[in-house]
Amino acid sequence: MKFDEQLSEDIKVVEETLKKHLSCEEARGQENIYDAVKYSAFAGGKRLRPVLTIEFCRACGADIQSALPFAAAIEMVHTYSLIHDDLPCMDDDDLRRGRPTNHKVYGEAMAVLAGDGLLNRAFETALQPGVPLPAETVLRAATALARASGMDGMIGGQVIDMEAEGHMLSAEELQNLQDLKTGALIRAAVQMGCIVGGADEKQMAAADVYASRLGLAFQIQDDILDIEGSTETFGKPVGSDAENRKCTYPSLLGLEKCHTLVRNLTQEAVEALSAFGDTAFLRALAESLATRDH
Ligand code: IPE
Ligand code: IPE
Ligand code: MG
Ligand code: MG
Ligand code: MG
Repeated sequence: MKFDEQLSEDIKVVEETLKKHLSCEEARGQENIYDAVKYSAFAGGKRLRPVLTIEFCRACGADIQSALPFAAAIEMVHTYSLIHDDLPCMDDDDLRRGRPTNHKVYGEAMAVLAGDGLLNRAFETALQPGVPLPAETVLRAATALARASGMDGMIGGQVIDMEAEGHMLSAEELQNLQDLKTGALIRAAVQMGCIVGGADEKQMAAADVYASRLGLAFQIQDDILDIEGSTETFGKPVGSDAENRKCTYPSLLGLEKCHTLVRNLTQEAVEALSAFGDTAFLRALAESLATRDH
């Protein structure tokens, strides 16, 4: 199957799984939080993290059905992180995935709760996957997600990002920030696919190199698009980083070096894939992200 077709099919199956796990059938008066959650969850994100989970499971030669609950779970955590990232007390942004941000529509209190709701539902989904997997596998995958989302992962990165506003970081400090803020969830997405797919140690290590390089290239491209992109295509406000006086890759290294870095890191990610059999999709995915405009 061609890359574009496979990507659309993966996104479709991720969205069906999300729909199943975000239904408000059991609501007893709290339906409004489901509206707020679904508003952000079905706003047309790229679904990169769940696609990685599915495709690494497939690259291990396993049935992707087992990966779906974990794919949905990581997209829930990611969507929660975006809802909170946009709040006035954080990046204070008005546009996300091409729509007004969650707090602009539902108010700040509901946006905080929608984020919290997504985080909890993510673990409910991962820990009761409803597919036949050994308990040990479920625990390993869910623990990888918990760690990557927490204080030694994404939340830790958000703290460093927030505290660095208004001053420059060294290249090493910025890499640490990125590694936690964006890298941790992208690595967890890949790890969960490998765990569920039954990867061997060599494959786990190779997948981690792919995820690290891809994650770094992804954040650098995000920072580039915050300067060179168009708000309409990007789906979020261009210039947000400058307005918040963020230390980003372009502010530290300049745009030209950033473009070169994205190309080189993508190449390194692709080279790491030799531990797997059919890697056409994962290669095309990395290459498409290097030239993305949204
Ligand atoms: C945005 O992530 C936040 C970053 C880590 C750069 P995505 O670019 O994956 O956002 P969506 O899910 O497509 O909206
Ligand atoms: C935030 O990074 C990544 C998260 C952990 C949510 P950014 O603040 O750069 O993400 P965008 O540009 O708002 O999507
Ligand atoms: Mg931010
Ligand atoms: Mg932001
Ligand atoms: Mg950004």
